[in-house]
Amino acid sequence: METDSPSGGRDRSFFYPHQMFFECMTALAVLAVLVALSFVWQAPLEEMADPGDVTYVPRPEWYFLFYFQLLKYFEGPLTVVGTCVLPALVFVLLLLLPFLDKGETVDVRKRPVAAAVCLAVAFSVAGLTAVSILEDERHGYRMVLPPITGEQIAEGQDLFRRFCQSCHGMDGKGGFFAPDLTQIGSRTNRAYIERVILQPQIVSQTTIMSLVPLSDTERHAVSAYLSRKK
Ligand code: HEC
Repeated sequence: METDSPSGGRDRSFFYPHQMFFECMTALAVLAVLVALSFVWQAPLEEMADPGDVTYVPRPEWYFLFYFQLLKYFEGPLTVVGTCVLPALVFVLLLLLPFLDKGETVDVRKRPVAAAVCLAVAFSVAGLTAVSILEDERHGYRMVLPPITGEQIAEGQDLFRRFCQSCHGMDGKGGFFAPDLTQIGSRTNRAYIERVILQPQIVSQTTIMSLVPLSDTERHAVSAYLSRKK
């Protein structure tokens, strides 16, 4: 390892054991933080898996979203470019980097090309991640549902009577135009109900179910109420 010393000269030290020691210590510290976090932080689990729900759209973790989004732009025969060619190119480039770039200094200001490439990559990754999250939110694919409360269920029941019961049957009352939802909670899960309210066409392309403009809180209330109807 070489570093510029304050005196202007160069200090040299061996990678092993000096740098190696620092890196091991850093890795240990990161591991300790992760272990501590796993005790304090609840894992953000989704609803129980529901094999009957064909509308579930699986998504990778956030740190892979950029790549997932990128794959959406390669369709048909081009898929292989996104899945194999690009990743292979990136890794080959990483392997060759030490041989291609023998820059004498680590000072970012003196390495405009390298700095520009890094910035461009960072911005692309951040941008693709953001686009992926926004698209999913627009389609209601990614849902963080607040825990169900008694108040919510009562509000949900009230909203259901006002906006949904004209079509849907419920506990022997209501309309006949649409499936009876008396036992909907034992057939599907809450996330599915939310998605149907957001986008009725996911049930069937030609559905007569109208888009009821509920606020997020109202929709959560209705889905809480219905998911408890078993
Ligand atoms: C205009 C009539 C109408 C209204 C109003 C309506 N729906 Fe529907 N809904 C339907 C129809 C019809 C279907 C069946 C889908 C199809 O095949 O067309 C359906 C399907 C559903 C399903 C899926 C049922 C299943 O078994 O998969 C849910 C959940 C649902 N509606 C919830 C609601 C909620 C909640 C509201 C009120 C916010 C509502 N609906 C308002 C007509 C309606």
